[in-house]
Formats: sequence, C-alpha cells, structure tokens
Amino acid sequence: MAAPKKVCIIGSGNWGSAIAKIVGSNAAQNCKFDDTVKMWVFEETVDGRKLTEIINTDHENVKYLPGHTLPSNVLAVPDLVEASTDADILVFVIPHQFIGKVCDTMKGKIKSDALGISLIKGVDEGPDGLKLISDVIQEKLGITMSVLMGANIANEVADEKFCETTIGCKNKNHGALLKELMQTNNFRVTVVEECDVVEICGALKNIVAVGAGFCDGLGFGDNTKAAVIRLGLMEMIAFARIFCTAGHVSSATFLESCGVADLITTCYGGRNRKVAEAFVKTGKTIEELEKEMLNGQKLQGPATAAEVFLILKRKNLIDKFPLFTAVYQICYEKHPVKEFIGCLQNHPEHM
Ligand SMILES: NC(=O)c1ccc[n+]([C@@H]2O[C@H](COP(=O)([O-])OP(=O)(O)OC[C@H]3O[C@@H](n4cnc5c(N)ncnc54)[C@H](O)[C@@H]3O)[C@@H](O)[C@H]2O)c1
Repeated sequence: MAAPKKVCIIGSGNWGSAIAKIVGSNAAQNCKFDDTVKMWVFEETVDGRKLTEIINTDHENVKYLPGHTLPSNVLAVPDLVEASTDADILVFVIPHQFIGKVCDTMKGKIKSDALGISLIKGVDEGPDGLKLISDVIQEKLGITMSVLMGANIANEVADEKFCETTIGCKNKNHGALLKELMQTNNFRVTVVEECDVVEICGALKNIVAVGAGFCDGLGFGDNTKAAVIRLGLMEMIAFARIFCTAGHVSSATFLESCGVADLITTCYGGRNRKVAEAFVKTGKTIEELEKEMLNGQKLQGPATAAEVFLILKRKNLIDKFPLFTAVYQICYEKHPVKEFIGCLQNHPEHM
C-alpha cells in the first residue's frame, strides 16, 4: 500500500480554519492520509499570546474561527517552509493578495510531485490580462493544481450545516483522492473537469455580491437583488467564455455549487455584501470599512472588480460588462452609488 499522504493547509483564516476542521477529521479516519495535518499560520499575537500557541494548546483559532474546536491532529506551524516542505497535498487558502509572496517563499523547498488545491477566490492581473490564482501557483511552484469552490460560507461549514461544493480537477484519480480528503456528510463534493471555469466563478461572484450590497444599502428589495444575481450570472458566463479559452466552457458548470449556488449565498450572506451595504449607508471608503468591520479579514470583491476592470479596459469590452464596471467605478472612482441602478436599467441583456 502507498505511504499515507501528508497534507498541509497553507492559510488559517476563517475558511482556512473551517476547512482544517474537515481535513483534520477526515485525515485522522482515513489511512490514505497521514494523521498529522500541518497548517501554516501567519503568526500574530492575540491577547498577548502567539496564535500558533493558542491553536496548538487550546485547539481553537480564536481570532478567525472563534467558538469551534479544531481537531487535535491539526498542527499550527508559523514557518511556511517547515509546514509545507514534506507535504504531498497542499491546500492553498489565503487571501489572494498574498499568494505571490507565499509561493516565492515555498519555491524549490517543496516536493515536486505534490498536488495543490486552491480554495482561493480572486484573480490576478498578468501581462496578457487575466491570470487565475491556480495558474500563478502552478507557474511559480511547478505543481499540478486543482480548485475547490462553492456556496460555502466558512462559519456555516464549521457549524456543520449541510452544503455542497465543487472540485475542479482535470485528472480523475487526483479528483477522487481530493474528494476523499474533503467530503463529509454535510459537505458534499462534486468533481468536474472544467477547473478554470470553477475558479473564475469563485472570483467573479464576489463582484456581483458587492452590487447586491449596494442595492441593500439603497433600500431596494428582493426582486432587484434577483435581477442583480441574474445579470451578474450572465456577465460571469460571458466573461468565462471570453477568457477561459484553454478548454470548453459549458453552461452545466454554472449550475454546480461553484456557480449559481455560490452566487446566491454570497449575495445574501457574506462579507462583500455586508461591507457594500455599509459603504452606501456610511459614505466611508472600502478600505476604512474593511478595517472597521472585518477584524483582519480581507475583502475580495472590490479588488477583483479592479483587476477585472483593467482587463476589460485593455480589451475594449467595458460596454459589455456594465455591472462589473459599475462596481469598480463606485468603489474606486467615486462614481455615485445610484449609477449601479442605471447600469441595471441599461443592461445589454435588455437591448
Ligand atoms: N471565509 C469564507 O467564508 C470563504 C469561503 C470560501 C472561500 N474563501 C476564500 O478563502 C480565501 C481565504 O479566506 P479566509 O476567509 O480563510 O481568510 P480571512 O480573510 O478570514 O483571514 C485573513 C488571513 O490572512 C492572513 N494574513 C494576513 N496578512 C498576511 C500576509 N501578509 N501574508 C499571508 N497571510 C496573511 C491572516 O493571518 C488570516 O489567516 C480567500 O480567497 C477567500 O475568498 C473564503
């Protein structure tokens, strides 16, 4: 029998800690995986104690997932190289802003045949336009990458409330192994091949959620939000068809948890919607609200809107994506929030 696979989780925020609960518990029960699951923790001091020490002693990430016990086989490690160097499976789950630096630190220090899976929602801007985070990791580290995205608000997953998720993986054997690592009775996994479409859904839905938050802040109702979700989905599909040129982009993938389900949950729950609503009601900047409302957590929607806007501008496609464009212009170019309703009224879907 093959040696048990060592798993390392790169990241320990809200989602990183929730997934550590699942992966730690599954690894402890499945002989295909090594018992110890290392979790790289960006070290910080909480109430005078190191966060790694708190996690390893009290088995709780008191800052990012308070109130939940992490399995005792999840070992918090503050040194990134020490955490990842002997891992066979690397689970990437950090805010996308930090991925470049993290990969540069790991480069040349990890197993060349390690499998990577990215749970990171966001995109990077590369020289030719859009760059998927999994591509950034694959290029920097030379490892095979898959992705996991879905309607998975971390606190609800940690509460073991039923939900679904989608793994995008090109290799059937890898997909089956990753499913064994991630699936529980209350976290059901579907594996699909179109990993770039799965990943782009996870990034773009955060932009739509900012728009949904604007509507809540302006006092609009559920019909308006449904329209934002539908028009946002149409822009997501159109964007994927233009930018995911390496393979097929099927409508079926948008019907998986990574597509329409994640879009709905993010437009009702989730931090992007919440901060966007406060943006309208308080007049404060996105940066101010991120600091005030999120206790160190990062906001993905506005940053992704900025990256997508640059790409659309370069390709002369701004007119075709009014919702994505309005979110960027309202967040960063001081356009009035009411313009968001204008972009819905004049959407090319109705012309
Ligand atoms: N939270 C959710 O519900 C959820 C669900 C699905 C996917 N995601 C995605 O998972 C990814 C991680 O999100 P999260 O919710 O776990 O994180 P988070 O926003 O809760 O926490 C921020 C994390 O970043 C770390 N950090 C701060 N400065 C850093 C630095 N300079 N370098 C490296 N790390 C640093 C912090 O230690 C903390 O672990 C994101 O891409 C997010 O979109 C989140």
